Amino acid sequence: MCGIVGYLGKNQAAPILLDGLSKLEYRGYDSAGIVVRDGENQAEVVKAKGKLINLSEKTNNGLDVKGNCGIGHTRWATHGEPSEVNAHPHVSDDMNVVAVHNGIIENYQELKEKLTKKGYSFYSQTDTEILTKLIDYYYKKYQIGPIDAIAKTMVRVRGSYAVAVMFHDYPNEIYVARKDSPMILGINDGDCFLASDVPAILKYTRDVYYIDNLEMARLHNGQIDFYNLDGDIVPKETSEIKWDAAAAEKGGYEHFMMKEIHEQPRIIAETFNSVCKDDKIDLSSVGLTTEEIEKISSIYIVACGSAYHVGVSAQYIIEDLVKVPVRVELASEFRYRKPMLTENDFVIAISQSGETEDTKKAVVLANELGANTLAIVNVVGSSIAREAGNVFYTLAGPEISVATTKAYSAQLIAIYSIAVEFGRVKGTIDEAKYKYYIDEIKAIPDKVEKIIESKDRIQWIANKFAYSHDVFFIGRGLDYSICMEGSLKMKEISYIHSEAYAAGELKHGPIALIDDGILVVSCLTQEDLYEKTTSNMTEVKARGAILLAITTYGHYNIEDNVDYVTYIPKADEHFMPSLAVIPMQLMGYYLSVARGIDVDKPKNLAKSVTVE
Ligand code: AGP
Repeated sequence: MCGIVGYLGKNQAAPILLDGLSKLEYRGYDSAGIVVRDGENQAEVVKAKGKLINLSEKTNNGLDVKGNCGIGHTRWATHGEPSEVNAHPHVSDDMNVVAVHNGIIENYQELKEKLTKKGYSFYSQTDTEILTKLIDYYYKKYQIGPIDAIAKTMVRVRGSYAVAVMFHDYPNEIYVARKDSPMILGINDGDCFLASDVPAILKYTRDVYYIDNLEMARLHNGQIDFYNLDGDIVPKETSEIKWDAAAAEKGGYEHFMMKEIHEQPRIIAETFNSVCKDDKIDLSSVGLTTEEIEKISSIYIVACGSAYHVGVSAQYIIEDLVKVPVRVELASEFRYRKPMLTENDFVIAISQSGETEDTKKAVVLANELGANTLAIVNVVGSSIAREAGNVFYTLAGPEISVATTKAYSAQLIAIYSIAVEFGRVKGTIDEAKYKYYIDEIKAIPDKVEKIIESKDRIQWIANKFAYSHDVFFIGRGLDYSICMEGSLKMKEISYIHSEAYAAGELKHGPIALIDDGILVVSCLTQEDLYEKTTSNMTEVKARGAILLAITTYGHYNIEDNVDYVTYIPKADEHFMPSLAVIPMQLMGYYLSVARGIDVDKPKNLAKSVTVE
């Protein structure tokens, strides 16, 4: 995700834009830019790669860029490397149209082909430049005004956008449009503001308008008019923001972690939509050809922490769907184990930051040994992305909280996409199953949303265990891999010692640790293993454990054997990690809050471990 701001009023725009962007850096910070216009003069565009400070220095904190009308952008790259060329604002070649955009244009390739045929050329790798030139195209072709040109563009594009646009023929005016990406507009004493999020404008106004999906707005003469897709005026009243500045940056949530937990439905949908068009998974953007997929005879997965847990889930999923042996390893072990890799091995590295030293060095080693490599990363142009031969970008946006949630969920979607497409190419999944799996993945966001809505129940349970000292997570198969993530969430943000065990393993020693009052969380989403796990639960219950079960709706008889249960919706069992992990994320979060810990910045940890 990115951050956009806009200002039109009696003051110089550039300093206000830079100030607003500084409040949105948590939304993206690999490059930034502003465009400012002084009356009828030509608009001036200034962009800089890297953090916002670089743009501030380039513009003398905005003092060198004159004008009272402008828009700005801080970028989190999704299409095209972080660079000055790819930074927003983007422009039509004659500067007729200038725009900044937050979101993803899914059909940008077909639109680029259309515009190329109409004589347009492109200077960047971004979907936003295409969006900008499409607005320009409709504006000129139909000789219509900004609202109509934007409306035609909105009808034509697929994806998500919050876009702010300036037209050369309309000085002292800013136009916006929104679909799915956030945007807020504000007004105060003749000044007009727009932003991706409240923090950017809270210093200037608390009187805001909420623009709805598929609506447009025109900022002019100290007022903001709203339009629907037909160009009809939509009357709106302002609302008053009551948050303080800190709360505003977290979208009103107390912590970034809770905000990021709530972002997961959208993130899951956007990540899957980035490779699934018209019910077909297309990995060409990842760089993988059908021939390369057919050649794969074994797969290694290397990662650390939560990314490693995704790898453990992936092992079960890919082996079952693709019938290819998968070996998952901690990157820190893999790189010193002298792995026997050949050119027929395929190594998948999973990393949110794309900068984890152990994972990066594992990819370097795999390349040296001649294996084909794929990175599943969340940061465009990151070190691991550059080391790997192929890259699957998760579209989780910047993840601020040290404890990963939305990036983990996006990584799972990447794995599902790879497993289903590999299965289709290798013939282990027929067309009917292929369509079924795609439908199942598309249904995940709504099911995740439903689980998040029941978060108060998780909080109620968590508060009963805020002063536990040892917690066990048990499960079998995929449920075991989910327990690993649940245990890590608990350890890293509540500081409660916990362990994840394969449920069948308890009796080989660990069960000696079970005593009265010890919380055991059991995960039961795999039907064929359900009975086995319940018998392990009986073993620990008999030794005084308190049992919390996470299982799917319908297994109501489990209530006879446990102390607490959290039900989650059913999905195809291969994709249950996306659902079962949500109560575990919430459990860790609420325990951390109950214990008065800084959820987003737990002690001893860093968001990205770039040392060995
Ligand atoms: C997860 O909550 C932790 N923050 C940590 O385990 C993390 O997953 C691990 O350090 C790997 O980071 P990466 O995904 O950026 O490579």
